[in-house]
Amino acid sequence: MATVLVLNGPNLGRLGTREPDVYGAGTLDDLRAVLREDAPDLEIDLRQTDTEGELLGWLHGAADSGEPVILNAGAWTHYSYALRDAVSLVTKAGGTVIEVHLSNPHAREEFRHTSVISAVSTGVIAGFGFESYRMALAFIRRNAR
Ligand code: DQA
Repeated sequence: MATVLVLNGPNLGRLGTREPDVYGAGTLDDLRAVLREDAPDLEIDLRQTDTEGELLGWLHGAADSGEPVILNAGAWTHYSYALRDAVSLVTKAGGTVIEVHLSNPHAREEFRHTSVISAVSTGVIAGFGFESYRMALAFIRRNAR
């Protein structure tokens, strides 16, 4: 069974209780269940880390394996050039990385308006809660397996 990596960065382990008015009331376990229901033909490997180096390592793995990635990098999105280089490593190797966000960063504080990873990602989906991930997964099912 083909695997899709669903990689989540800092503070996203607190989903459900963290600013539910912004991020919704669902937890990462709820998200995993929704994605598994959407794609029973795929292995959904959903992970979360608060350690940047761990996320970089997962992206290096994706560059080697070719496994498609749905990436919510949280606040690292806005300033981590190391993350940008790791995303670029995957996409330049021919892999897929879809940048997703639960909220619409462009409608929020100014520091969230910048993404240093968008330009090297395959595409960007933001502002639709769990639907952002579901749309990314639908794209991968049709195009990137
Ligand atoms: C986020 C948006 C980021 O600005 C924020 O730092 C997050 C979550 C989102 O999913 O809306 O942690 O990536």
